Amino acid sequence: MTELNTAPVITIDGPGGSGKGTVSRLLARQLGWHFLDSGALYRLVALAAIHHSIALGDEFNIKTLAAHLDVEFESDEVDFEARIWLEGEDVTETIRSEECGQGASVVAALPSVRQALLARQRAFQEPPGLVADGRDMGTVVFPAANLKIYLTASREERARRRHKQLNDKGMSVNLQRILGELAERDARDSARSVSPLKSAPDAVVVDTTTAGIDEVVKRVLVEWQARS
Ligand code: C5P
Repeated sequence: MTELNTAPVITIDGPGGSGKGTVSRLLARQLGWHFLDSGALYRLVALAAIHHSIALGDEFNIKTLAAHLDVEFESDEVDFEARIWLEGEDVTETIRSEECGQGASVVAALPSVRQALLARQRAFQEPPGLVADGRDMGTVVFPAANLKIYLTASREERARRRHKQLNDKGMSVNLQRILGELAERDARDSARSVSPLKSAPDAVVVDTTTAGIDEVVKRVLVEWQARS
């Protein structure tokens, strides 16, 4: 076995707004590990498809796009808010739009697109370790992960968080609309035939509805210390 795939992995899966992104970044920072934002890859595929006028359901062309995605994560080891470049353009903020989120969930339901992104995601597993954030990190991408966490929260709380997040970024959005879009995205992510959103049988499930971020990070670190 090479050194590359013996680096420890902690997977953080769960639906949008469960706190995955924030918890994963803080965790990676505290441990001094690498960080994989797998959702960003699906968002990038959706954005590239929009740029190239490829229909989101055109599996052959979307898969080809995913396999050859010209993307660069400008890593920032301080706050892990890396700048993301797609075909030479800084799309860090653009991919966070609801349009890219919805598009991501459409292309993510295409089996060959998921397959095309597999190796790219696994390449993030490097010493000293990796925190991987997504929907299928523990079930499909890193099934042998050292620790698997599944975060949940009520849909209302998740919508409220996303609303605040977008507002903080200066995007004006309606809470009811976010709630509707979240329900739509949850349904599509959970119902798809490949890698549906579900907790791995060996994952630790943490409900974040009323828990603060620091509390959740602490809980994950305790789980990690118990295993290492
Ligand atoms: O986490 P984020 O909201 O950025 O993910 C956008 C979409 O990408 C999700 O709704 C989901 O459909 C898809 N996704 C996925 N598998 C992952 C990460 C994201 O299917 N590992």
